[in-house]
Amino acid sequence: MACENARLARGGIAVSILDQTKLPASEERLHPDTPEQCRSAIERLAVRGAPAIGIFAAFAFCTLAQKVAPAPGPRSWEAPAGPDFVEGMGRLRDYLAQSRPTAVNLGWALDRMMNVVREHAGEARFDMLRALRAEAATIQEEDIACCRAMAEFGLELIEDGWGLITHCNAGPLATSEYGTALGPLLLGRERGMNFRVFVDETRPLLQGARLSAYELDRAGVDTTLICDNMASVVMAEGWVQACFVGCDRVASNGDVANKIGTNGLAIIAAHYGVPFYVMCPSSTIDFTCATGADVPIEERDPEEIRSKFYERPMAPSTVKCFNPAFDVTDHSLITAIVTEHGICRPPFTESLRG
Ligand code: MRU
Repeated sequence: MACENARLARGGIAVSILDQTKLPASEERLHPDTPEQCRSAIERLAVRGAPAIGIFAAFAFCTLAQKVAPAPGPRSWEAPAGPDFVEGMGRLRDYLAQSRPTAVNLGWALDRMMNVVREHAGEARFDMLRALRAEAATIQEEDIACCRAMAEFGLELIEDGWGLITHCNAGPLATSEYGTALGPLLLGRERGMNFRVFVDETRPLLQGARLSAYELDRAGVDTTLICDNMASVVMAEGWVQACFVGCDRVASNGDVANKIGTNGLAIIAAHYGVPFYVMCPSSTIDFTCATGADVPIEERDPEEIRSKFYERPMAPSTVKCFNPAFDVTDHSLITAIVTEHGICRPPFTESLRG
């Protein structure tokens, strides 16, 4: 199941994204073409999901490169990409990387793009651009291959007829194809398997209700939307045989940062003896973080809790709000972490490096 949420457009001079803030009501594309517009697209979640923001940032880097330290004159594309260009791209890298702090894939993809800038420094700008486009395309192709591989491994963990639960959105919209956590479910469905999938709506921004429910429903999966505080009920009823979530950063001990509410779901799953699976490409593992305490957690606008999505605000306008976008699930609550290389089980300090 493919999803063109980010791609180059207009012969490679522009980047095109599906505006996820408009889903599921309408499918609209955006063409951000300034650093500010690209950063804002990530900040306001027009493009979101750890792998997808990395892919988008790589494509944005290519298109914005065309305007960095332009050489004067009619044959400017033949001029060398000199130190001014390299410095300008470095500033652009930092500017885009600061848009969201938790997902490691964003900085990871931008670092890959910066490596290309350094490797091709001094070459004609035309060749530099070609190399940048090739790298961005490779990052996307690798993501598609990772998602396929993870979906196959994830499918080994579930059986036809099972009930499953997922949180936030880790489907095709958050990647390029299949997704991470939704990958086994979508692949299984393609192969004629039937699952009953419970989707947490995922307050405050409703990625579960707006995006996961939309993707699963369109794929013909038996989908039931629940509020986040209902997960214990469906587990107590015995309707859920496994939990599948994506993640934004894995620490080297296996602690996992993912959408706020993931930790609560894992605690409930442990209570009811339901296996808890985390799916992510290996690019999401950050060995520089020893534990989840090292992962920066994004805090977002209080209005997302106070007033967003309501016809009128549902809380006093003066009430304080705490709005962390992610939480950390302790590795002891995780049954396995699935990457494109296979199924990693505890102890994660060893298996994640395997
Ligand atoms: O704030 P979001 O919507 O970008 O959060 C996304 C998640 O938490 C996903 O679970 C995670 O990025 C994995 S995407 C394959």
